[in-house]
Amino acid sequence: MRKGSGKLKRIKRKLSGIVRSVAPLPVWNAYLRARGLGQLHPWRTFGYMASRADPRPLFEGRFADLYAKYCSLDPTADPERARYVHYCNCFFAFLCRYVPGDFVCAGVSYGVGAKMVFEFTDFPSLGKTLHLIDPFEGISPGGIAENYNRDPEYVRRQYPADAPIVMHRARIPLRLPGKLAFVVATTGVPAAEEASIPIFYEALSPGGIMISDRYLELPSVTPLWMPSALAVYFKQ
Ligand SMILES: C[S@@+](CC[C@H](N)C(=O)[O-])C[C@H]1O[C@@H](n2cnc3c(N)ncnc32)[C@H](O)[C@@H]1O
Repeated sequence: MRKGSGKLKRIKRKLSGIVRSVAPLPVWNAYLRARGLGQLHPWRTFGYMASRADPRPLFEGRFADLYAKYCSLDPTADPERARYVHYCNCFFAFLCRYVPGDFVCAGVSYGVGAKMVFEFTDFPSLGKTLHLIDPFEGISPGGIAENYNRDPEYVRRQYPADAPIVMHRARIPLRLPGKLAFVVATTGVPAAEEASIPIFYEALSPGGIMISDRYLELPSVTPLWMPSALAVYFKQ
């Protein structure tokens, strides 16, 4: 009897997996309701990311308080579109607090993501350096983007004079001295991120994490029909 119900569960899990991998979000939500699983969280989209995880930590608590304070540093962006990606970056950065090595944010623009990581991890208490890498030239895959910040001083002013940050007015791929604990690349330029992955990965200490938020947009990596997501690399 127990053996049979285990088999049924496995079949149901497999079926869920198949439906999830091919269904558009509204169809998937309807499927959950039909199976009486409507009490689980429905899919929600945040810009180019989607999740069916419990959304409360995004809207309540430490992350939400900090995001309310700093999201307006970027006067051009809709904060709700970027809320989930910043949450993921902060979450993974937090996991790396005690991994040996420095932190890197590549692709800074107005600095929201870097500032969120800095504040969320209580960065000055970690005894590390936060490297901020951006040429501040507005580079995007389609040419020069008018909505990117071109003034590095705008970012520098967001931190106390003695904050443990180093600004690199440069492009990735870039080799930094020393070991790294956490890297997040949000350049919007898939080719630059693809070329950087082996360099940053090699520099990561065991337990370190690297995130590339546009790498998955490379057609060679992700089929066009699949929604983009973060690529997260764990160094073992
Ligand atoms: C989408 S914005 C970054 C947004 C930022 N992470 C935030 O929290 O608002 C992309 C930035 O990447 C920068 N960029 C473009 N190519 C780059 C490269 N190869 N290396 C570093 N930064 C780059 C652009 O200058 C731009 O400021």
